[in-house]
Amino acid sequence: MMVLCRFIGVPLKDLSRFSESAVELELMGASPLKPVFPKLEKALYTLRDYIIELVAMRKAEPQDDFISALILAQAEEDVLTEQEVVWSIVNLLFAGQDTTRFQLASAIRALIEHGVWDTLATRPEAVTKAMDEALRIYPVVQFLLRIPRVDVVIDGYEFPAGERVILNMIGASRDPRIFTAPDAFDMERPEEYGLLFGYGLHYCVGRPLARLEMQLAIETLSRRIPQARIAGEVSATGWQSMLGGPHNLRLEFEPA
Ligand code: HEM
Repeated sequence: MMVLCRFIGVPLKDLSRFSESAVELELMGASPLKPVFPKLEKALYTLRDYIIELVAMRKAEPQDDFISALILAQAEEDVLTEQEVVWSIVNLLFAGQDTTRFQLASAIRALIEHGVWDTLATRPEAVTKAMDEALRIYPVVQFLLRIPRVDVVIDGYEFPAGERVILNMIGASRDPRIFTAPDAFDMERPEEYGLLFGYGLHYCVGRPLARLEMQLAIETLSRRIPQARIAGEVSATGWQSMLGGPHNLRLEFEPA
């Protein structure tokens, strides 16, 4: 969250004003959604109100950050409304917070479960490959939703206009037609899972940042606590949530 805030231009001293609400946005992927609506609405409005204040401050005094750049683009190009600027920033906080936090925890879990973690301290050059395979084993985005505007036929499957289509991303990451022994952790596998960050028009804008954050975290933690083990059961979100990952990942290790 701290790296994300720095990237966007949100002062770290303000984190306590909205961090609880940012975590609550996880509910956006809940299914069914209706029972969590009041909580979600409260979290979204808390964030929105904070961002409205911040946008006003940056308008008065621009800084060298993303928010000021967005405001400038709005003024120069006139393609975004004031509301769109505010919600784009809220959207960034949502899109970049739970995804990265769940995905990092899941990646560490996969690396420890598959006995790779303790080797990384002495092989930092292997972190990227190991991380990519860990991301395939437990991808954070469990499904995506699409509603076709027109009737579509893909590979003989019909998707009528207006119908909800749920894309099973967990299935895609372990598709036996693509991956040999898909349930095995194999950091040398030649096949790549290229759908973690989406595909096409809505491809993730935060991919480079998220990858860098996770790579640095794995490099640093595996060096500092190479003997870490998972303590107890991992309690993770269910498959009904769009975003999946451990709520808590308890590690045990000897202090250095
Ligand atoms: C491990 C971390 C992340 C994963 C796995 C991830 C995954 C995704 C996926 C699958 C999509 C496509 C959604 C769709 O097609 O419906 C997406 C879109 C998006 N992501 Fe990420 N993301 C991550 C981190 C981030 C970060 C750090 C940011 C912001 C700095 C971010 C910002 C966005 C935004 C704004 C979109 C919407 C793009 C659009 O609709 O044009 N993401 N992400």
